[in-house]
Amino acid sequence: MCGIAGYIGKKQAAPIILDGLAKLEYRGYDSAGIAVFDGEKIHMEKAVGRLRVLDELTRHGASMPGFCGIGHTRWATHGCPSDTNAHPHMNRENTIAVVHNGIIENYDVLKARLEKKGYQFVSETDTEVLAHMLTEYYRGNPAEAIEKVMHRVEGSYALGIMFLDHPHHIYAARKDSPLIVGVSDTGKFIASDVPAILQYTRTVYYMENEEIVCLSNEHTRFYNIDGEPIEKEPVTVDWDIHAAEKGGYEHFMLKEIHEQPKAIRDTISPRIKENDIDLGELNLTDEEIKRLRKISIVACGSAYHTGVTGKYVIEDLARIPVETDLASEYRYRNPIYAPDSLVIIVSQSGETADSLAALRDAKAHGSKVLSIVNVVGSSIARESDAVLYTWAGPEISVATTKAYSCQLAVFYMLAMKFARIRGSITAEHFQTLLEALRRLPDQVEGLLSQKEKIQYFANHYLATEHIFFMGRGIDYAISLEGSLKLKEISYIHSEAYAAGELKHGTISLMEKGTLVVALATQDALYPKTVSNIVEVKTRGAFVMALTTLRHKDMEKCADYVLYIPETESPFMGSLAIIPLQLFAYYVALGRGLDVDKPRNLAKSVTVE
Ligand code: G6P
Repeated sequence: MCGIAGYIGKKQAAPIILDGLAKLEYRGYDSAGIAVFDGEKIHMEKAVGRLRVLDELTRHGASMPGFCGIGHTRWATHGCPSDTNAHPHMNRENTIAVVHNGIIENYDVLKARLEKKGYQFVSETDTEVLAHMLTEYYRGNPAEAIEKVMHRVEGSYALGIMFLDHPHHIYAARKDSPLIVGVSDTGKFIASDVPAILQYTRTVYYMENEEIVCLSNEHTRFYNIDGEPIEKEPVTVDWDIHAAEKGGYEHFMLKEIHEQPKAIRDTISPRIKENDIDLGELNLTDEEIKRLRKISIVACGSAYHTGVTGKYVIEDLARIPVETDLASEYRYRNPIYAPDSLVIIVSQSGETADSLAALRDAKAHGSKVLSIVNVVGSSIARESDAVLYTWAGPEISVATTKAYSCQLAVFYMLAMKFARIRGSITAEHFQTLLEALRRLPDQVEGLLSQKEKIQYFANHYLATEHIFFMGRGIDYAISLEGSLKLKEISYIHSEAYAAGELKHGTISLMEKGTLVVALATQDALYPKTVSNIVEVKTRGAFVMALTTLRHKDMEKCADYVLYIPETESPFMGSLAIIPLQLFAYYVALGRGLDVDKPRNLAKSVTVE
């Protein structure tokens, strides 16, 4: 959500900034802008719409010569998407330019005060107050002015700032919105995320809350909010540069779907040791695990859906009560933090505002927080007591696939480990599960090779208006994700139901031809789901069922059947989700939509 890229160095800044912003497109945006110091003044260009509009406007930066600049992709919060509301924002004298990711919560009070003092606002954004406040406090020392502003604003921000008086410097600061600094032999960078700078450097500093950095060709200086210099250690990022490229696939989403076998393997293999699961990163003793009385899983979007599966699997295997909550609800519902409980935050980006707030609430109440995160060094990872990383690599497509699959795999390992330590499963059962876990990546691979069958089916449903997903137990959890995937990228209305709940209302929507995707992978629940399939069929629904090969009889009741291989029932979701991801992808593709960057959505939701 909003992307920042900035550069100072020996090369032309604008093309580097535009390339960096392009790498951040996945974050979601509706307009873009760039400011470059051209030797005399700060030259600014902004354009609503896709980055390519700005790219064409500036002839890929050729019309904006200069060695120092900042750029931004904006996802509108305050004020509609427009050229005027796009960032950078400048003061009236055009001597200070600011790009901002986040929300200034007290901007109305600040704006009213500034207006009284005669400052004139041209945009509807909260960000513009920053440009005017910096002008108000600036007495020749940029860092000092930034500190003063930081002391007065409430909310979240990652900032990139240029001062005409200090033309060979970029300043940046952050609080609760991600920002990194990269350094190389040929220049220095600021960015919202690693992919923006990966082609230039792997040496990265992660900015902490309320830190400021000043970059020039000569130095990289960090300060705290009180202006005191601080020492920071750089980190070497080991992401493969090609991981952030499409690599011959038409879309990142399709590429990432195909990367799932590797991503799952990378996530589980290092943790399977001598027929055991080693979760040393857990930071919990066996005694603490035995004492656990409650687990709260808290997340947003697809990460929340893995938490719904996590609840089924942990309760089933480890017999620990689990509640799964949406972070946006959890943080405001005054949850009960009992002793001997564990809060698990799940997040691909590690920056989701609601999930981060839930984490902080849990920690403030003395709860232990474990996070399952994909981005190393992200805020959620850094603030948790322990982190179990998913090793999915960079995920670019807004609709998550491989990170989701890795989160599921982490929940399996967690449930098995807890179950073993607490003695709720036998050693034999544990070994059977371990073998099944080892087989999962290959089974996912096998499913991917059948994608044409799903494409064929998807092509028949491009004009459908409503699609319902249903299942019981883990099949219900996977239905939630299948439905979300579809609506996110195809814009088809879709809902997921616990199959037994349908007749309490939703069945009234069934009519001739309504498409129902029914999941029936759980042997113990199979007859129950079949009854629910019959109920919707009786009302005219067309049913596509997803089950395992041992249930060939499904062909007698469903209209179209897709088979997935057998695995242990807690792990079925990892296989069932693959056809659903492909179905969503092919429907969106067939409808000619922007699969990787669906309208209105952002990959990393850093505001509430
Ligand atoms: C956004 C993304 C979703 C994601 C959710 C949570 O809405 O579009 O794909 O599931 O945020 O993101 P997180 O990074 O916390 O997993």
